[in-house]
Amino acid sequence: MDKSEKLALSLSGLLLIVFFGAIMYAAVAEDVDVPTCITDMDPFTTDTLFQTSEDVYELHMVARMWAFQPSTIRLPAGSTVDLYVTSQDIIHGFKVERKNVNLMAVPGAINYIRVKFDEPGEYFFACHEFCGAAHHTMAGRFIIEENDDNEPIGGKL
Ligand code: CUA
Repeated sequence: MDKSEKLALSLSGLLLIVFFGAIMYAAVAEDVDVPTCITDMDPFTTDTLFQTSEDVYELHMVARMWAFQPSTIRLPAGSTVDLYVTSQDIIHGFKVERKNVNLMAVPGAINYIRVKFDEPGEYFFACHEFCGAAHHTMAGRFIIEENDDNEPIGGKL
């Protein structure tokens, strides 16, 4: 084998190791989760929020022109949210600031990701797919409260 071939092969191998290491680092150290398309659940048309166990909540989020339902979600700090997102009309996006949440809201389909809110505060979310005239107004927020005794209060729940 030629010397340059050996070098190219070694560099490719090294790159593979670096990329695999980066994926493992993101998954384990940074806790980055990949959104999942849910296929064993019927698309829902109404938003719901309920508690599934201590500190774990399930949120069904509906996107439509030009709002998210619910638009305001109050939860105690330390909450883990199983987030299911769908759309009633066209494709929207769902991005939560300071969280690794970036989902597509697709009509007829459900996308899922789990997100944990440790720090109290407000976490804004917004549509990141251009969806028409009022796309820029399509937003909402999670309000994470310090007091653990608070019951979740959704915008329209
Ligand atoms: Cu919905 Cu942009």
